[in-house]
Amino acid sequence: MKRSDADNNLPSKVRLVEVGPRDGLQNEPPPIISTSLKVELIQRLAECGLTHIEAASLVSPQWVPQMADSRDVLRKIERKSGVRYTALTPNEKGVEQAIACGANEIAVFTAASEAFCQKNINCSIGESLKRFQPAIQLAIANKVPVRGYVSTTLGCPYSGEISPGEVARVCHALDEMGCYEISLGDTIGTGTPLKVKRMLQRVKQSIPARKLAVHFHDTYGQALANIYAALQEGISVIDSSVAGLGGCPYARGASGNVATEDVLYMLDGLGINTGVNLNELVSVSHWICQQLNCQNNGNVSQALNGRH
Ligand code: HMG
Ligand code: MG
Repeated sequence: MKRSDADNNLPSKVRLVEVGPRDGLQNEPPPIISTSLKVELIQRLAECGLTHIEAASLVSPQWVPQMADSRDVLRKIERKSGVRYTALTPNEKGVEQAIACGANEIAVFTAASEAFCQKNINCSIGESLKRFQPAIQLAIANKVPVRGYVSTTLGCPYSGEISPGEVARVCHALDEMGCYEISLGDTIGTGTPLKVKRMLQRVKQSIPARKLAVHFHDTYGQALANIYAALQEGISVIDSSVAGLGGCPYARGASGNVATEDVLYMLDGLGINTGVNLNELVSVSHWICQQLNCQNNGNVSQALNGRH
């Protein structure tokens, strides 16, 4: 579709970062999902044209039982050329394991809220950054790029409002440590477009838009509007989860990420290229929800049910 004049400042291309196999599955209730199903999901997502997939989470298995087989998952994926398979971890131990299992990228994670950081990784923001120093150095020494996450950039389930200045401070620290990209999380989905713009404008004072990504959960149904606001601010990397799976186990009330198929439908409509095939993605979305026996939170998948 041809762009209107009003949309001419939007990026012509977007990289979608599919986080369903990690953010989506980490919060699924028992029983534990089989390794083979996780591997099949990752492979099917790659077949849809997704080139960046967060495949695993190397964290304490006591804290996140659904991700306990992450090393096996990383080892068993049949790699597709041109696809980056990322492992999430908060420390050096996880980086060692990720490298040993052939992850193409590490993602470290902290927060803009002290209270959330404590609940999620049992330490202060300052301590999390200290732990990242050796972890990031190890990854970079092994030529594995590192992405950084900042959670609760638009609100915290424990301490409420978060100032854009605090988000910018943590982003700056991650940038200085060598993260090539920083993903800004609306962990509990409370953001609205104006808040998104104010937060991004503050962060962009020290980090260019090309090094930023957005990672919005859709708890309040604001994620697509927020992504549009982020596109207007020059953001061209968007995290999303097939079927809108997921949520953070340490953020009370957080629902899944924005559904990849919903983001893709909007981007297709805006004439923004992603290289991802919508019909194939919708098929994967229905398939994984059947396998997990869970509701499909993708509006586009529901609308296209039986029509593709
Ligand atoms: P702790 O209990 O304070 O630390 O947990 P510890 O050092 O005493 O470690 C506890 C156990 O974990 C030990 O095992 C360690 O070896 C093990 P034990 O001796 O008891 O057998 N351990 C590990 N195991 C595997 N891989 C590792 C690792 N590190 C330690 N890398 C810790 C601290 C950080 C480990 C814990 O709090 C933790 O694992 N937290 C993870 C919480 C989590 O995964 N949350 C969800 C992901 S974040 C998210 O979803 C937000 C995001 O999507 C963005 C957004 O939406 O905003 C990214
Ligand atoms: Mg998340």
